[in-house]
Amino acid sequence: MVTAVATSESAVSFLDPNTVERGGRIDFGEIVHAHLSQKLRAHGQEHLLQFWQELSIEEQESLAAEILSIDFEQIQQLHNGFLNPTKTEDVDVSRVEEPQSVKPGESTRISQEAARAVGEAALKTGLVGVVIVAGGQGSRLGFEHPKGMYPIGPASDATLFQILIEKIRATSQRYETRIPLYLMTSPATHGETVEFLNANDNFGLAGEDLHIFCQGTMPAVNMQTGQLVLKEKNALFFSPNGHGGMLEALDTSGCLADMQTRGVEHLFYCQIDNSLIECIRPEFVGYHILSNSELTTQVIRKQSPSEKVGNVVSVDGKVQMIEYSDLPEELASARNDDGSLKVWAGNIAVHAFSVSFLERVAGQADALPFHFAQKKVPYFDAAGETVKPTEPNAVKFERFIFDLMPLAQRALVVEADRESVYAPLKNAEGTESAEWVREKISSLHTQWLAEAGIEVEPGSTVEISPLYANSAEELAERRPNGQGGYYSC
Ligand code: UD1
Repeated sequence: MVTAVATSESAVSFLDPNTVERGGRIDFGEIVHAHLSQKLRAHGQEHLLQFWQELSIEEQESLAAEILSIDFEQIQQLHNGFLNPTKTEDVDVSRVEEPQSVKPGESTRISQEAARAVGEAALKTGLVGVVIVAGGQGSRLGFEHPKGMYPIGPASDATLFQILIEKIRATSQRYETRIPLYLMTSPATHGETVEFLNANDNFGLAGEDLHIFCQGTMPAVNMQTGQLVLKEKNALFFSPNGHGGMLEALDTSGCLADMQTRGVEHLFYCQIDNSLIECIRPEFVGYHILSNSELTTQVIRKQSPSEKVGNVVSVDGKVQMIEYSDLPEELASARNDDGSLKVWAGNIAVHAFSVSFLERVAGQADALPFHFAQKKVPYFDAAGETVKPTEPNAVKFERFIFDLMPLAQRALVVEADRESVYAPLKNAEGTESAEWVREKISSLHTQWLAEAGIEVEPGSTVEISPLYANSAEELAERRPNGQGGYYSC
């Protein structure tokens, strides 16, 4: 039995003041155990204390703190929701329509020139910031580090962090402005990300323009029983709460307040896994501003009905996303008279948010629903052994940022050409693998050179640093003085 001085605020806070005075000698382990048991029993979670007597006082404290951080009512409701899901067939196909969209270069209500001028003005006056979500664990890729550290430059081996940060710096330099980067990590990626960026001088981004903030977590539960998963004798299994966790984390980390102080009115959003992102194309920002949109999203035409991308649609006039896993087959394969897909707008996770919209919805605690992901989660069993399951055994709870779409008073969809904007790194092999991404970068940059009148030998690997040219137009502007700056091999 452990006897200890109750010096911990967390431990003392729930003790009955009539039983023990703060700082007095108490039987810490037993009192805390009694309190926690009562709490856990009410929710069928007593198994979390099965190793309590074997733990040191520090281990008991950390386990108690984790247990006390959990909203068991919420977990129970979420698990009930998992056991009784809304069936995908329940998506009312008759209410789903194509979203209205604009495409730069095609005749639309807002001209491309007007969008560009307004976007450039917004950039020059410091109205634009960038948020990159980089909290995912990259498990599909089999890379045991933050995905941003993956060396992907086909000739330079530049990492995803370097490429995206250099795109932001290139835009800042072009428009003689400062563009703050709000970089979201998770507990799984935070430490290594901070260390890596420090060691590389933030790839040239000024310290005051880089805000690294960490998203929250959610505990995982056993799929069948709803019991929380023990990772170790004294620790629960937590995982990142989805990129929708960005909303709460932007607020609690002070990043929203920072945007307000700096006068940032529009936030460009993207994922760390896509090195072809146009970061930041003035036209995209311009369409967003001129449409008075609260949430603008860039999409590409899907290549097949079942392509594994989110689907941007309109339901009762509201833009919203149906994730590929929730898209009923009937809807996925529906075609227009000309043979084109009805559900054509693929999500590449590039959005623009108005900061005032984020501020409004950040105040609504449950603005974003939770989704369920069935995963193989190693757990500590009753015999004190770590078990590595071969089948999904647990459910993780995640929020998705695109669920904000229907909450926007005005939302806009902007179409882009796939080959110019989308080459995500997702898989260890095949499509969307590192080799595939390198080929995509090289072929886009070869095309930029061709547009600038420069031919390269077929089969060459080409990579152009964003700091030299960040688009085909910028490359063409460079052409007359023939300066170097190409990576080529
Ligand atoms: C995601 C989209 C999909 C879209 C595709 C485009 C979801 C659910 N689906 O699929 O509609 O077509 O991207 O590439 O998002 N992340 C965090 N914290 C988290 C979870 C994820 O920061 O808790 C970040 C990851 O670092 C990554 C991004 O969000 O950059 C996407 O997450 P991922 O789980 O890889 O989504 P996909 O299945 O690729």
